[in-house]
Amino acid sequence: MEVIIRPNADAAADLMARIIAKELRSNPRLVLGLATGCTMESVYARLVGMHREEGLDFSCCRTFNLDEYVGLPGNHHNSYRHYMNQHLFLQVNIDLKNTHLPDGLATDLVAECANYERLIAECGGIDLQLLGIGQNGHLGFNEPLSALRSRTRVKILSPMTRAQNAPLFPKPDQVPHRAITMGVGTILDCRRCLLLATGEEKAAIIAKAVEGHITSMVSATALQLHPECTVILDEVAGSQLKESDYYHWIFENQPEWEPFHEALSPLAKNGVQAKHQPKKQPVEVISDALE
Ligand code: GLP
Repeated sequence: MEVIIRPNADAAADLMARIIAKELRSNPRLVLGLATGCTMESVYARLVGMHREEGLDFSCCRTFNLDEYVGLPGNHHNSYRHYMNQHLFLQVNIDLKNTHLPDGLATDLVAECANYERLIAECGGIDLQLLGIGQNGHLGFNEPLSALRSRTRVKILSPMTRAQNAPLFPKPDQVPHRAITMGVGTILDCRRCLLLATGEEKAAIIAKAVEGHITSMVSATALQLHPECTVILDEVAGSQLKESDYYHWIFENQPEWEPFHEALSPLAKNGVQAKHQPKKQPVEVISDALE
């Protein structure tokens, strides 16, 4: 695992977007694993900017999202399909037929999960998986005690996760109780993982995920087993790491990172403004969370 700490959230999102763009340029048929959440919005805005200003080409790219809520149709405002359409798919030249999310309305959810794994395998596996992190350390919706070898399946969302995602729904009790998510094992099979975390509310869980013991209680600790995983942080999200001086030194001194020292051009950065600013709302307990 490599940890890169940038001065602020903008610089962290810039770096993430530039790495994705570099991979896509070197392999136009890239199989890209996608994540949702407020943190990722500014990365997608930058990719859209690069598409518009620099011609970044998504026409042959295939995508697989990490997860989708069970019970929400793709056109529902809170579905992850809707999120992806708004923030990326409808803003670039990707072929929608090449974009995949689990179907949260499938009548046979077990078959849907198996089918999702089959589709990923048919595309030759995921080349680059983007990841955010939940405040309980989940990747996708791999809640505490997700098996480290788990595959795509239905998970029950924890009270903390439902509370964390509640501000995006009209009412907290409308947050679904279940989601289909790639498993931890599915994620570990990706060729390269890129995790982005910014903001003070992620500092404690990032310290556990990066420098803590590997445990199924914190799915993100499984990334310590991945041979090619880069964790990109802003200063505050990295503020509880013990070895941050070492991580800073790597970015400043390793030749592989030199091309990334420059900031993204303002044109590409401002191609599209993220619609929502990352939320910094306190986590509240949802009353019916344990129903
Ligand atoms: C949801 C998604 C996760 C994502 C997390 C972080 O729970 N299922 O994949 O990592 O949100 O969201 P945010 O970036 O808003 O903190």
